Amino acid sequence: MATKSKSKESKFKTLFVDELKDIYWAEKHLVKALPKMIKGATSPKLVKAIEKHLEETKEQVKRIDQVFEILDMKAEAIKCEAMSGLVKEAESIMEETDADTMVRDAAIITASQKIEHYEIASYGTLVTFAKKMGMDDVADILSKTLDEEKKTDSSLTKLAVSEINEEAASE
Ligand SMILES: [Fe+2]
Ligand SMILES: [Fe+2]
Repeated sequence: MATKSKSKESKFKTLFVDELKDIYWAEKHLVKALPKMIKGATSPKLVKAIEKHLEETKEQVKRIDQVFEILDMKAEAIKCEAMSGLVKEAESIMEETDADTMVRDAAIITASQKIEHYEIASYGTLVTFAKKMGMDDVADILSKTLDEEKKTDSSLTKLAVSEINEEAASE
């Protein structure tokens, strides 16, 4: 039984590491993609919100580096097809909407929130897995990122509801 539970635990850890490599690719991809969204946005508040999150995202990449270090593993990224698709969707939604409009800003918010929700799901899982494996230091590091993703999501909701949607509806 002991052997069985040990192999189970290591498969669980493999699953954790695979998820970590996936989100590592996703965050690095976002560091490249967010500037395009900043460029495409019109509302100064939206531009500011995405700029802020770009800086956070750069730190989030470093946090994953730190986690790989704690695990004594080489940092490795594996292409995340989901994030690749979400970013493509963000790019096409910007092509399909007119520049300097609140409709485009509303579209950017939609696409951004889909991205944040994917990240929230991933980090939520990673934090839970890390705690389960007794890696509280890793859980603490990833919790910081999880909080940032949640805060970004809710600030985007506030921005959409308080002004952008209304202006978009009257364009
Ligand atoms: Fe992120
Ligand atoms: Fe994010």
